[in-house]
Amino acid sequence: MSATETTHDVTFTVNGVLRTASVPARRLLADALRHDLGLTGTHLGCEHGVCGSCTVLVDGRPMRSCLLFAVSVDGAEITTVEGCLAPDGGLGPVQQAFVDCHGLQCGFCTPGFVTTITAYLRENPDPTEEEAREAIGGNLCRCTGYQNIVKSVLRAAEIQQEQGAI
Ligand code: FES
Ligand code: FES
Repeated sequence: MSATETTHDVTFTVNGVLRTASVPARRLLADALRHDLGLTGTHLGCEHGVCGSCTVLVDGRPMRSCLLFAVSVDGAEITTVEGCLAPDGGLGPVQQAFVDCHGLQCGFCTPGFVTTITAYLRENPDPTEEEAREAIGGNLCRCTGYQNIVKSVLRAAEIQQEQGAI
């Protein structure tokens, strides 16, 4: 940013906490989260809306944070992978499922999968394997071959149902 660049104050609720930042109009949401708010769980892979690594939930809907300007979501409620924890601070159901099913290798793509699957399971809490595969169709992983990620979607649904039954 040049010393003379105009900045704009933006306020979001991020993972349930009100956060403010002063950003240039061109600051991407992904960069605002990572650099201005220190939430480095959101990963940038392609920066072109293709890979899905940067996916966060904006007002509950999965969106590519590399395609949004921070100023365009002023006032929104944002959930990043850091906000997908269990209420007690342990791993959330989707995160636990990735551990259980070996759904990650390098883990670079994982934050985008976790946010995408978290939103998906709210709409479809009991997907079939085919639906699980479809749900992750917009996210790219270079490591895993997807089989274990599909299993993770199904396992996350199972964990959520187990927790709901307690
Ligand atoms: S970094 Fe945003 S979709 Fe790849
Ligand atoms: S686990 Fe490495 S890119 Fe997906």
